[in-house]
Amino acid sequence: MWRPALWPLPALRIGGRAYLAGDKNKGFERYFKEARRLLGYGEVVRREGPYRVALLEKEKEAPPLPPLWHTFKARLLDREFTFRHLPGVFSAGKVDPASLLLLEALKGEVGDLKGRSVLDLGAGYGALTLPLAHLGGEVTAVEDDWGSVLSLEESLRANGLRASVLHSDVDEALTEGARFDIIVTNPPFHVGGAVILDVAQAFVEAAAARLKPGGGFFSGG
Ligand SMILES: C[S@@+](CC[C@H](N)C(=O)[O-])C[C@H]1O[C@@H](n2cnc3c(N)ncnc32)[C@H](O)[C@@H]1O
Repeated sequence: MWRPALWPLPALRIGGRAYLAGDKNKGFERYFKEARRLLGYGEVVRREGPYRVALLEKEKEAPPLPPLWHTFKARLLDREFTFRHLPGVFSAGKVDPASLLLLEALKGEVGDLKGRSVLDLGAGYGALTLPLAHLGGEVTAVEDDWGSVLSLEESLRANGLRASVLHSDVDEALTEGARFDIIVTNPPFHVGGAVILDVAQAFVEAAAARLKPGGGFFSGG
């Protein structure tokens, strides 16, 4: 199996070298073993606390890469959507149940979104953005992971839907005065294996600042 972080390795010529750095508590060993199996040679050359650096050398041609784009369909709020995504995005190949639950709760509370401005914080490949745009919302989607941004744009195209997609750390790319009727998020709670609440907290703070008076904030998880 090719882990996305190892995808550049086929670009090495035979005899070419790659250096792999990581934390042994956050998957370094798995990446190292896989890279060594694919390239032929590898050894750990530096250790400091949990951190490791490995040197790898390409001794043999690597197997061909799998297709970059993955496509799947999901039925959300009575419509089937086609999602397209790159490797490494959140909830690859299947919409997260928390996102579906959030959509159902929002539809129950708000109903039609025609003409209403919606902010999707941490939009991923668009599990929330697409159905909300389909319900008539004027959706602005912010997302800091570039692969997710490209996936969201591709998913919107695949379904003939429109939204404003911004590559953004939390709400940084929004204009200062941008305010919304509805804000949704299924925030990230993990980095690697660890529970990290900083981004979720930044999302909640952004939502508090960006919501119009009387607006609705929907958060899943
Ligand atoms: C749990 S996923 C939810 C994705 C999507 N809304 C869904 O329901 O499937 C959280 C998303 O937040 C994004 N994210 C993490 N940190 C971020 C940040 N600082 N600014 C913007 N997006 C961020 C992640 O890349 C990920 O796509």
